[in-house]
Amino acid sequence: ARIVVLASGTGSLLQALIEATRTDGYPATIVAVGVDRDCGATEHAAEAGVAHFTVALRDHADRSAWDVALTESVAAHRPDLVISAGFMKIFGPAFMERFAGRIINTHPALLPSFPGAHAVRDALAYGVRVTGSTVHLVDSGVDTGPILAQEPVEVRVDDDEAALHERIKIVERRLLAEVVAAVALRGVVSDGRKAVIPSE
Ligand code: GRF
Repeated sequence: ARIVVLASGTGSLLQALIEATRTDGYPATIVAVGVDRDCGATEHAAEAGVAHFTVALRDHADRSAWDVALTESVAAHRPDLVISAGFMKIFGPAFMERFAGRIINTHPALLPSFPGAHAVRDALAYGVRVTGSTVHLVDSGVDTGPILAQEPVEVRVDDDEAALHERIKIVERRLLAEVVAAVALRGVVSDGRKAVIPSE
């Protein structure tokens, strides 16, 4: 399967996915990386020799024009799957129209708890003892799409946001690569809230 990865941050999840796709027999190839700003992900893509492009909101008249530009930039690479690996923008209607059902996101909390851009900080502030990683299909909401996989991560009393987030990312890097491979091989059957990857 051809995948385009979208990122906005340090790109450690992207790096993990680059490495996973380069193991023997992995059923997906990253054909391009898209970012909405200069970030670590751009460097990881360049070092790995993967095509990359930037579609920055500030370079477009408004969010709608940005939505169309991002859709066209991603579509140019003919992806079978689009992976959001820390992409910090909400996809617009043009993007959803084009890729709905084929967009996978990873979120550093056990959805529906702690949606949004500060999941790790919010979980710490709430005082939960267990949080975790969620991999889900993206729908038109924010972190609301059907869940494909989840894994718990314990919160330690001395955790600060960075320490907890890094521990979650260790899980995310593995879980995302596992889910992407499974979806690439067997697809996803989803009806309403339920999205199931058919078993072997
Ligand atoms: C990940 O924890 C992802 O779930 C969140 O942003 C983080 C991206 O990490 N949305 P990195 O930029 O890949 O290191």
